[in-house]
Amino acid sequence: MEIKTKTGHDIAQCAELLKSGKLVAIPTETVYGLAANGFDSKAVSGIYEAKGRPHFDPLILHIGEMRQVETLSTNFPDKAQKLAKAFWPGPLTLILPKSNRVPDIVSAGLQTVGIRMPRHETTLELLKNLDFPLAAPSANPFGYISPTTAQHVYDQLNGKIDYILDGGECSVGLESTIVSFAIENPVILRMGGISVEDIESVIGKLEVKNQSTSNPSAPGMLISHYAPKTPLLLGDITKLITQLSSKNFGVLGFKTTYGYPGETLSKTGNFREAAQNLFSALRRLDNQNYDAIIAEELPEAGLGRAINDRLKRAEKKS
Ligand code: TXA
Ligand code: MG
Repeated sequence: MEIKTKTGHDIAQCAELLKSGKLVAIPTETVYGLAANGFDSKAVSGIYEAKGRPHFDPLILHIGEMRQVETLSTNFPDKAQKLAKAFWPGPLTLILPKSNRVPDIVSAGLQTVGIRMPRHETTLELLKNLDFPLAAPSANPFGYISPTTAQHVYDQLNGKIDYILDGGECSVGLESTIVSFAIENPVILRMGGISVEDIESVIGKLEVKNQSTSNPSAPGMLISHYAPKTPLLLGDITKLITQLSSKNFGVLGFKTTYGYPGETLSKTGNFREAAQNLFSALRRLDNQNYDAIIAEELPEAGLGRAINDRLKRAEKKS
């Protein structure tokens, strides 16, 4: 019989479970993570198994204090330090050259490692109780929509993990922005909870290289990701509707659903609110048995770009 995964607020119990190599879902400001002791290869391999995630896709290490970077990385360049000072704790992941303290299974064999300090009190408290970083990808089955509540995690990983630490609804709702320092000039590998404009205001112009690819050597930037089971079409709502043969569809609109059934991301057109609602709204639409979800493209600025990026990856690929 499958054992039911407990959901609760017991930080001390989570610390004990993690110390003994178990898997715990943790809240962060972006999305829930599926965490294990980042120094314990065996525990980390359990993450890949529970998620059904390919082993070529590396994990992020979550830390509670800036000085941990020194033990995890061999080089913390000036610009990376500036970003960390500006945005940690917060939705920023830095890719840095890895030290030999980081197991190969975490970095999926790469010479670099992703590090971030999440902005969530519960998880920061948990990290204080641990003398290791937490390796954690988003706590969703590989390729599906990321979870932004404890219930989302439970719905998909019940029985596969040992505890879900409930920290309420995620405040940002989009995964972290990833900035890589793997080569001389930093590049943005994934748009996320911090806008490109905000990153550039600290370290100047940089390349955004998160173009979709199905090449495993560019991990994590897979074309199809964050996808609902219902086919999703992205673009201009009124144009898309004329192209549909079925009347059984739901609209994912930015400020309105144009009178059709569906979900509105932010009535006032606020990007932050839209980001926070995105994954929950997608899940609700996906549970309606529609033949299609029609999603509206947002203006290409600020967090709108990151939201469009997720919607493009969620789009039906023919
Ligand atoms: O907001 C977030 O970043 C959430 C929360 C839980 O912290 N985590 C998250 O993890 O989104 P995950 O594994 O779902 O996405 C991390 C992405 C993956 O696409 C992975 O390929 C990429 O980061 N990544 C990790 N380490 C990398 C590395 N060394 N080089 C290039 N990409 C890396
Ligand atoms: Mg993910």
